[in-house]
Amino acid sequence: MQSEINPWSSNQEIETNKLFSEFGIEPVEPLLGKIKNPPAFLRRNIVTGQRDYARVVDAMANKEKFFVMTGFMPSGHPHLGHLMVMKEVAWHVRQGGLGYVAIADREAHAVRDISWEKCREFGKEYLKCLYALGFEGTTYFQSDNNDLKDLAFESATRINFSELQAIYGFSQETALAKAMSVAMQVADILYPQTDDEPAPTVVPVGLDQDPHIRLTRDVSYKLRMFLVEERCEGNREYISIRSKNAPETAMKDLASAFPGAKVYEGHIDIKGGNLDDVKETVRKVERRNGGYGFISPSATYHTFLQGLQGGKMSSSVPESLFGFYEDEKSVKKKIMSALTGGRMTLEEQKKLGGEPEKCSIYLLNLFHMTEDDDELKEMYRACKAGELMCGTCKKETFERVKEFLAEFREKMDECEHKVEV
Ligand code: TRP
Repeated sequence: MQSEINPWSSNQEIETNKLFSEFGIEPVEPLLGKIKNPPAFLRRNIVTGQRDYARVVDAMANKEKFFVMTGFMPSGHPHLGHLMVMKEVAWHVRQGGLGYVAIADREAHAVRDISWEKCREFGKEYLKCLYALGFEGTTYFQSDNNDLKDLAFESATRINFSELQAIYGFSQETALAKAMSVAMQVADILYPQTDDEPAPTVVPVGLDQDPHIRLTRDVSYKLRMFLVEERCEGNREYISIRSKNAPETAMKDLASAFPGAKVYEGHIDIKGGNLDDVKETVRKVERRNGGYGFISPSATYHTFLQGLQGGKMSSSVPESLFGFYEDEKSVKKKIMSALTGGRMTLEEQKKLGGEPEKCSIYLLNLFHMTEDDDELKEMYRACKAGELMCGTCKKETFERVKEFLAEFREKMDECEHKVEV
Protein backbone atom coordinates (compact mmCIF):
# COMPACT_ATOMS: atom_id res chain seq x y z
CA MET A 1 0.00 0.00 0.00
CA GLN A 2 1.32 3.44 -0.90
CA SER A 3 1.07 6.25 1.58
CA GLU A 4 -0.86 9.39 0.77
CA ILE A 5 2.05 11.78 0.36
CA ASN A 6 4.70 11.24 -2.22
CA PRO A 7 7.45 13.87 -2.22
CA TRP A 8 8.15 13.46 -5.94
CA SER A 9 4.58 13.62 -7.15
CA SER A 10 3.48 16.60 -9.20
CA ASN A 11 0.17 16.63 -7.35
CA GLN A 12 0.67 18.79 -4.32
CA GLU A 13 -2.91 18.99 -3.26
CA ILE A 14 -2.24 17.62 0.13
CA GLU A 15 -5.08 17.17 2.54
CA THR A 16 -3.72 18.99 5.50
CA ASN A 17 -6.25 17.61 7.95
CA LYS A 18 -5.45 14.07 7.00
CA LEU A 19 -1.76 14.67 7.56
CA PHE A 20 -2.46 15.99 10.98
CA SER A 21 -4.82 13.24 12.08
CA GLU A 22 -3.27 10.23 10.34
CA PHE A 23 0.40 10.98 10.53
CA GLY A 24 0.58 12.80 13.83
CA ILE A 25 1.75 16.25 12.69
CA GLU A 26 0.89 18.75 15.42
CA PRO A 27 -0.34 22.32 14.94
CA VAL A 28 2.24 25.04 15.43
CA GLU A 29 -0.19 27.46 17.02
CA PRO A 30 0.05 26.36 20.70
CA LEU A 31 3.80 27.06 20.65
CA LEU A 32 3.53 30.64 19.42
CA GLY A 33 3.23 32.10 22.92
CA LYS A 34 6.76 30.96 23.68
CA ILE A 35 8.28 32.65 20.62
CA LYS A 36 9.36 36.26 20.92
CA ASN A 37 8.16 38.41 18.00
CA PRO A 38 6.98 35.56 15.79
CA PRO A 39 7.58 36.33 12.10
CA ALA A 40 4.72 36.61 9.59
CA PHE A 41 4.97 33.00 8.48
CA LEU A 42 4.22 31.88 12.04
CA ARG A 43 1.68 34.59 12.92
CA ARG A 44 -0.29 33.87 9.76
CA ASN A 45 -0.28 30.10 10.12
CA ILE A 46 1.57 29.66 6.81
CA VAL A 47 3.93 27.44 8.73
CA THR A 48 1.09 25.41 10.10
CA GLY A 49 2.40 22.09 11.40
CA GLN A 50 5.32 20.72 13.37
CA ARG A 51 6.89 17.67 14.94
CA ASP A 52 8.78 18.07 18.19
CA TYR A 53 9.30 21.78 17.51
CA ALA A 54 8.86 22.57 21.24
CA ARG A 55 12.39 21.29 21.78
CA VAL A 56 13.76 23.89 19.39
CA VAL A 57 11.49 26.65 20.69
CA ASP A 58 12.86 25.97 24.19
CA ALA A 59 16.43 26.05 22.91
CA MET A 60 15.71 29.41 21.24
CA ALA A 61 14.14 30.84 24.39
CA ASN A 62 16.99 29.61 26.60
CA LYS A 63 19.71 30.60 24.15
CA GLU A 64 20.86 27.00 23.89
CA LYS A 65 22.48 25.42 20.91
CA PHE A 66 20.29 24.19 18.06
CA PHE A 67 20.60 23.53 14.35
CA VAL A 68 18.43 24.59 11.47
CA MET A 69 18.93 22.34 8.46
CA THR A 70 17.21 21.97 5.15
CA GLY A 71 17.90 20.97 1.58
CA PHE A 72 17.04 22.09 -1.93
CA MET A 73 16.85 19.90 -4.99
CA PRO A 74 18.51 21.84 -7.84
CA SER A 75 16.15 20.67 -10.58
CA GLY A 76 15.65 24.20 -11.94
CA HIS A 77 16.08 27.88 -11.09
CA PRO A 78 14.99 28.87 -7.59
CA HIS A 79 11.61 30.64 -7.60
CA LEU A 80 8.77 32.03 -5.54
CA GLY A 81 7.82 28.55 -4.31
CA HIS A 82 11.17 28.14 -2.53
CA LEU A 83 11.08 31.46 -0.75
CA MET A 84 9.17 30.29 2.32
CA VAL A 85 11.68 27.66 3.41
CA MET A 86 14.53 30.06 2.67
CA LYS A 87 12.97 32.69 4.92
CA GLU A 88 12.43 30.13 7.65
CA VAL A 89 16.06 29.04 7.56
CA ALA A 90 17.35 32.61 7.61
CA TRP A 91 15.04 33.51 10.49
CA HIS A 92 16.15 30.54 12.61
CA VAL A 93 19.77 31.51 12.00
CA ARG A 94 18.95 35.00 13.25
CA GLN A 95 17.44 33.42 16.37
CA GLY A 96 20.79 31.79 17.11
CA GLY A 97 20.49 28.54 15.16
CA LEU A 98 23.53 27.04 13.48
CA GLY A 99 22.62 26.87 9.80
CA TYR A 100 23.13 23.92 7.45
CA VAL A 101 21.93 23.78 3.86
CA ALA A 102 22.28 20.81 1.52
CA ILE A 103 22.11 21.13 -2.24
CA ALA A 104 20.56 17.79 -3.13
CA ASP A 105 22.31 17.31 -6.45
CA ARG A 106 22.34 13.54 -6.03
CA GLU A 107 18.57 13.57 -5.66
CA ALA A 108 18.11 15.88 -8.67
CA HIS A 109 20.34 13.63 -10.77
CA ALA A 110 18.69 10.41 -9.61
CA VAL A 111 15.07 11.53 -9.64
CA ARG A 112 14.93 14.27 -12.30
CA ASP A 113 17.85 13.25 -14.50
CA ILE A 114 19.48 16.67 -14.23
CA SER A 115 23.10 16.79 -15.45
CA TRP A 116 25.81 17.41 -12.89
CA GLU A 117 26.71 20.71 -14.60
CA LYS A 118 23.15 21.97 -14.35
CA CYS A 119 22.94 20.81 -10.73
CA ARG A 120 25.99 22.93 -9.99
CA GLU A 121 24.62 25.98 -11.77
CA PHE A 122 21.15 25.81 -10.16
CA GLY A 123 22.60 24.89 -6.80
CA LYS A 124 24.70 28.03 -6.70
CA GLU A 125 21.63 30.14 -7.44
CA TYR A 126 19.84 28.64 -4.43
CA LEU A 127 22.79 29.43 -2.22
CA LYS A 128 22.94 32.99 -3.48
CA CYS A 129 19.27 33.50 -2.60
CA LEU A 130 19.87 32.14 0.88
CA TYR A 131 22.82 34.40 1.53
CA ALA A 132 20.85 37.36 0.19
CA LEU A 133 18.19 36.63 2.83
CA GLY A 134 20.85 36.72 5.54
CA PHE A 135 21.72 33.04 5.86
CA GLU A 136 24.97 32.14 7.54
CA GLY A 137 26.38 28.70 8.15
CA THR A 138 27.50 25.52 6.44
CA THR A 139 26.46 24.63 2.90
CA TYR A 140 27.42 21.69 0.71
CA PHE A 141 26.56 19.76 -2.42
CA GLN A 142 25.64 16.17 -1.55
CA SER A 143 27.98 14.78 -4.20
CA ASP A 144 31.00 16.56 -2.65
CA ASN A 145 30.50 15.54 0.93
CA ASN A 146 32.22 12.27 1.82
CA ASP A 147 31.28 12.28 5.50
CA LEU A 148 27.68 12.67 4.40
CA LYS A 149 28.00 9.68 2.09
CA ASP A 150 29.34 7.58 4.96
CA LEU A 151 26.48 8.67 7.16
CA ALA A 152 24.02 7.85 4.37
CA PHE A 153 25.49 4.34 4.15
CA GLU A 154 25.24 3.88 7.89
CA SER A 155 21.65 5.17 7.83
CA ALA A 156 20.87 2.70 5.06
CA THR A 157 21.71 -0.15 7.44
CA ARG A 158 18.49 0.78 9.21
CA ILE A 159 16.21 1.12 6.15
CA ASN A 160 14.69 -1.82 4.28
CA PHE A 161 12.78 -2.17 1.05
CA SER A 162 9.40 -2.83 2.58
CA GLU A 163 9.65 0.49 4.43
CA LEU A 164 10.54 2.28 1.20
CA GLN A 165 7.58 0.61 -0.45
CA ALA A 166 5.20 1.54 2.35
CA ILE A 167 6.43 5.12 2.69
CA TYR A 168 7.09 6.12 -0.93
CA GLY A 169 5.39 3.45 -2.99
CA PHE A 170 8.68 2.17 -4.41
CA SER A 171 8.30 -0.87 -6.66
CA GLN A 172 10.49 -3.45 -8.39
CA GLU A 173 11.12 -0.88 -11.12
CA THR A 174 12.35 1.91 -8.84
CA ALA A 175 15.96 2.86 -9.55
CA LEU A 176 18.40 2.01 -6.82
CA ALA A 177 19.77 5.56 -7.04
CA LYS A 178 16.38 6.88 -5.96
CA ALA A 179 16.50 4.70 -2.86
CA MET A 180 20.04 5.95 -2.28
CA SER A 181 18.89 9.54 -2.54
CA VAL A 182 16.41 8.81 0.25
CA ALA A 183 19.27 7.61 2.43
CA MET A 184 21.15 10.79 1.43
CA GLN A 185 18.33 12.97 2.69
CA VAL A 186 18.18 11.06 5.97
CA ALA A 187 21.91 11.72 6.26
CA ASP A 188 21.47 15.43 5.39
CA ILE A 189 19.09 15.82 8.30
CA LEU A 190 21.34 14.01 10.78
CA TYR A 191 24.57 15.50 9.43
CA PRO A 192 24.80 18.61 11.66
CA GLN A 193 24.78 16.37 14.74
CA THR A 194 27.78 14.44 13.42
CA ASP A 195 29.64 17.41 11.98
CA ASP A 196 29.26 19.14 15.34
CA GLU A 197 27.67 17.34 18.30
CA PRO A 198 24.10 16.25 19.11
CA ALA A 199 21.66 19.16 19.56
CA PRO A 200 18.02 19.81 18.67
CA THR A 201 17.58 20.28 14.92
CA VAL A 202 14.69 21.93 13.14
CA VAL A 203 14.07 21.04 9.51
CA PRO A 204 11.78 23.56 7.79
CA VAL A 205 10.05 21.88 4.85
CA GLY A 206 6.84 21.80 2.86
CA LEU A 207 4.20 19.29 3.92
CA ASP A 208 5.17 16.97 1.05
CA GLN A 209 8.48 16.22 2.74
CA ASP A 210 6.97 14.65 5.84
CA PRO A 211 7.69 11.06 4.71
CA HIS A 212 11.41 11.88 4.80
CA ILE A 213 11.07 13.40 8.25
CA ARG A 214 9.25 10.36 9.61
CA LEU A 215 11.84 8.02 8.15
CA THR A 216 14.72 10.07 9.53
CA ARG A 217 13.24 10.18 13.01
CA ASP A 218 12.89 6.42 12.85
CA VAL A 219 16.48 5.92 11.66
CA SER A 220 17.88 8.30 14.28
CA TYR A 221 16.18 6.21 16.95
CA LYS A 222 17.34 2.91 15.46
CA LEU A 223 20.94 4.12 15.39
CA ARG A 224 20.91 4.78 19.13
CA MET A 225 22.74 2.31 21.40
CA PHE A 226 20.47 2.84 24.37
CA LEU A 227 16.85 3.51 25.19
CA VAL A 228 16.12 5.63 28.28
CA GLU A 229 12.64 5.48 29.79
CA GLU A 230 10.85 6.42 32.95
CA ARG A 231 9.03 3.41 34.37
CA CYS A 232 6.61 2.69 37.09
CA GLU A 233 5.97 -0.68 38.74
CA GLY A 234 3.45 -0.59 41.55
CA ASN A 235 4.61 2.44 43.50
CA ARG A 236 8.21 1.94 42.47
CA GLU A 237 9.35 4.63 40.04
CA TYR A 238 12.67 4.34 38.27
CA ILE A 239 14.58 5.18 35.12
CA SER A 240 15.41 2.26 32.90
CA ILE A 241 18.29 2.29 30.42
CA ARG A 242 18.12 -0.57 27.98
CA SER A 243 20.72 -1.57 25.45
CA LYS A 244 19.53 -1.73 21.85
CA ASN A 245 22.77 -2.26 19.98
CA ALA A 246 25.33 -1.43 22.63
CA PRO A 247 28.62 -3.30 22.59
CA GLU A 248 29.83 -4.90 25.80
CA THR A 249 32.37 -2.13 26.49
CA ALA A 250 29.68 0.55 26.27
CA MET A 251 27.51 -1.41 28.74
CA LYS A 252 30.41 -1.48 31.18
CA ASP A 253 31.09 2.21 30.71
CA LEU A 254 27.40 2.91 31.32
CA ALA A 255 27.43 0.96 34.59
CA SER A 256 30.39 2.96 35.86
CA ALA A 257 28.72 6.23 34.85
CA PHE A 258 25.84 5.42 37.23
CA PRO A 259 27.38 4.15 40.46
CA GLY A 260 24.73 2.71 42.74
CA ALA A 261 22.43 1.72 39.89
CA LYS A 262 21.14 -1.81 39.54
CA VAL A 263 22.97 -3.50 36.73
CA TYR A 264 21.31 -6.36 34.87
CA GLU A 265 22.07 -8.21 31.67
CA GLY A 266 21.38 -5.68 28.91
CA HIS A 267 19.77 -3.02 31.12
CA ILE A 268 20.32 -0.75 34.09
CA ASP A 269 17.75 0.65 36.53
CA ILE A 270 18.25 3.93 38.35
CA LYS A 271 16.20 5.07 41.31
CA GLY A 272 15.64 8.79 41.67
CA GLY A 273 17.54 11.03 39.28
CA ASN A 274 16.35 13.49 36.70
CA LEU A 275 15.31 12.02 33.37
CA ASP A 276 16.96 14.73 31.25
CA ASP A 277 20.23 14.47 33.17
CA VAL A 278 20.24 10.71 32.79
CA LYS A 279 19.57 11.05 29.06
CA GLU A 280 22.49 13.44 28.69
CA THR A 281 24.88 11.15 30.54
CA VAL A 282 23.75 8.19 28.44
CA ARG A 283 24.31 10.22 25.28
CA LYS A 284 27.87 10.97 26.40
CA VAL A 285 28.57 7.33 27.14
CA GLU A 286 27.21 6.41 23.75
CA ARG A 287 29.34 9.02 21.99
CA ARG A 288 32.59 8.04 23.66
CA ASN A 289 31.92 4.46 22.66
CA GLY A 290 31.59 5.28 19.00
CA GLY A 291 27.81 5.84 18.84
CA TYR A 292 25.94 8.84 17.46
CA GLY A 293 23.69 9.77 20.37
CA PHE A 294 21.27 11.48 18.01
CA ILE A 295 18.49 13.75 19.21
CA SER A 296 15.47 12.99 17.08
CA PRO A 297 15.14 15.84 14.55
CA SER A 298 12.19 18.27 14.68
CA ALA A 299 10.36 19.74 11.70
CA THR A 300 8.09 22.61 10.72
CA TYR A 301 5.70 22.31 7.78
CA HIS A 302 4.50 25.14 5.60
CA THR A 303 1.47 25.12 3.33
CA PHE A 304 2.01 25.80 -0.35
CA LEU A 305 1.44 29.09 -2.06
CA GLN A 306 -0.95 28.49 -4.94
CA GLY A 307 0.16 29.36 -8.46
CA LEU A 308 -0.65 32.73 -10.02
CA GLN A 309 -3.15 30.93 -12.25
CA GLY A 310 -4.70 29.08 -9.31
CA GLY A 311 -3.79 25.43 -8.74
CA LYS A 312 -0.29 24.25 -8.22
CA MET A 313 2.77 26.46 -8.39
CA SER A 314 5.33 24.61 -10.46
CA SER A 315 8.20 25.40 -12.79
CA SER A 316 6.47 23.16 -15.33
CA VAL A 317 3.74 25.85 -15.49
CA PRO A 318 5.73 29.07 -16.18
CA GLU A 319 2.70 31.37 -15.68
CA SER A 320 2.20 29.99 -12.17
CA LEU A 321 5.25 31.76 -10.75
CA PHE A 322 8.09 34.17 -11.44
CA GLY A 323 11.80 33.61 -11.07
CA PHE A 324 14.03 35.97 -9.14
CA TYR A 325 15.87 37.12 -12.25
CA GLU A 326 12.86 37.32 -14.53
CA ASP A 327 12.55 40.61 -16.40
CA GLU A 328 10.10 43.17 -15.16
CA LYS A 329 7.77 43.08 -18.14
CA SER A 330 7.25 39.37 -17.87
CA VAL A 331 6.66 39.53 -14.09
CA LYS A 332 4.17 42.33 -14.60
CA LYS A 333 2.30 40.37 -17.23
CA LYS A 334 2.02 37.33 -14.99
CA ILE A 335 0.71 39.38 -12.10
CA MET A 336 -1.75 41.36 -14.18
CA SER A 337 -3.21 38.16 -15.65
CA ALA A 338 -3.27 36.21 -12.39
CA LEU A 339 -6.41 34.43 -11.23
CA THR A 340 -8.05 36.40 -8.44
CA GLY A 341 -10.99 36.01 -6.13
CA GLY A 342 -12.83 38.69 -8.09
CA ARG A 343 -16.40 38.38 -9.41
CA MET A 344 -17.56 38.10 -12.99
CA THR A 345 -18.56 41.76 -13.31
CA LEU A 346 -17.63 45.03 -11.68
CA GLU A 347 -21.22 45.40 -10.50
CA GLU A 348 -21.18 42.08 -8.76
CA GLN A 349 -17.81 42.77 -7.22
CA LYS A 350 -19.06 46.03 -5.72
CA LYS A 351 -22.15 44.32 -4.40
CA LEU A 352 -20.72 41.05 -3.12
CA GLY A 353 -17.07 41.90 -2.54
CA GLY A 354 -14.15 39.68 -3.59
CA GLU A 355 -12.99 36.38 -2.21
CA PRO A 356 -9.43 36.94 -0.93
CA GLU A 357 -9.11 33.41 0.52
CA LYS A 358 -9.08 32.04 -3.02
CA CYS A 359 -7.14 34.86 -4.62
CA SER A 360 -3.59 34.16 -5.81
CA ILE A 361 -2.77 37.87 -5.50
CA TYR A 362 -4.03 38.16 -1.94
CA LEU A 363 -2.14 34.98 -1.03
CA LEU A 364 1.05 36.32 -2.61
CA ASN A 365 0.73 39.32 -0.30
CA LEU A 366 -0.09 37.13 2.68
CA PHE A 367 2.94 34.91 2.07
CA HIS A 368 5.58 37.36 0.94
CA MET A 369 4.77 40.85 -0.17
CA THR A 370 3.05 42.52 2.80
CA GLU A 371 4.93 42.29 6.08
CA ASP A 372 2.66 44.66 7.97
CA ASP A 373 -0.37 42.90 9.47
CA ASP A 374 -2.52 46.03 9.52
CA GLU A 375 -1.88 46.71 5.88
CA LEU A 376 -2.79 43.15 5.02
CA LYS A 377 -5.95 43.31 7.12
CA GLU A 378 -7.00 46.48 5.36
CA MET A 379 -6.46 44.82 1.97
CA TYR A 380 -8.64 41.91 3.08
CA ARG A 381 -11.36 44.17 4.44
CA ALA A 382 -11.49 46.45 1.41
CA CYS A 383 -11.63 43.45 -0.92
CA LYS A 384 -14.47 41.79 1.01
CA ALA A 385 -16.34 45.10 1.19
CA GLY A 386 -16.22 45.52 -2.58
CA GLU A 387 -14.13 48.68 -2.28
CA LEU A 388 -10.90 47.32 -3.72
CA MET A 389 -11.05 46.22 -7.34
CA CYS A 390 -8.74 43.56 -8.79
CA GLY A 391 -7.06 45.86 -11.31
CA THR A 392 -5.97 48.32 -8.63
CA CYS A 393 -4.95 45.59 -6.25
CA LYS A 394 -2.84 43.86 -8.92
CA LYS A 395 -1.09 47.12 -9.77
CA GLU A 396 -0.32 47.81 -6.13
CA THR A 397 0.90 44.26 -5.68
CA PHE A 398 3.13 44.53 -8.72
CA GLU A 399 4.74 47.66 -7.21
CA ARG A 400 5.55 45.67 -4.07
CA VAL A 401 6.92 42.79 -6.10
CA LYS A 402 9.05 45.16 -8.15
CA GLU A 403 10.53 46.67 -5.04
CA PHE A 404 11.11 43.25 -3.49
CA LEU A 405 12.86 41.94 -6.60
CA ALA A 406 15.07 44.99 -6.99
CA GLU A 407 16.27 44.71 -3.42
CA PHE A 408 16.64 40.94 -3.55
CA ARG A 409 18.69 41.06 -6.76
CA GLU A 410 20.97 43.68 -5.39
CA LYS A 411 21.62 41.57 -2.30
CA MET A 412 22.13 38.46 -4.42
CA ASP A 413 24.77 40.25 -6.45
CA GLU A 414 26.49 41.37 -3.29
CA CYS A 415 26.56 37.76 -2.06
CA GLU A 416 27.99 36.31 -5.25
CA HIS A 417 31.41 35.85 -3.62
CA LYS A 418 30.02 33.72 -0.79
CA VAL A 419 29.04 30.99 -3.21
CA GLU A 420 32.46 29.73 -4.08
CA VAL A 421 32.21 26.04 -4.90
N1 TRP B 1 13.97 16.34 -1.06
C1 TRP B 1 13.96 17.74 -0.90
C2 TRP B 1 13.17 18.39 -2.07
O1 TRP B 1 12.68 17.72 -2.90
C3 TRP B 1 15.34 18.33 -0.84
C4 TRP B 1 16.18 17.89 0.33
C5 TRP B 1 17.34 17.16 0.26
C6 TRP B 1 15.98 18.16 1.72
N2 TRP B 1 17.87 16.97 1.49
C7 TRP B 1 17.07 17.59 2.40
C8 TRP B 1 14.98 18.83 2.44
C9 TRP B 1 17.19 17.67 3.79
C10 TRP B 1 15.11 18.92 3.83
C11 TRP B 1 16.20 18.33 4.51
O2 TRP B 1 13.08 19.57 -2.13
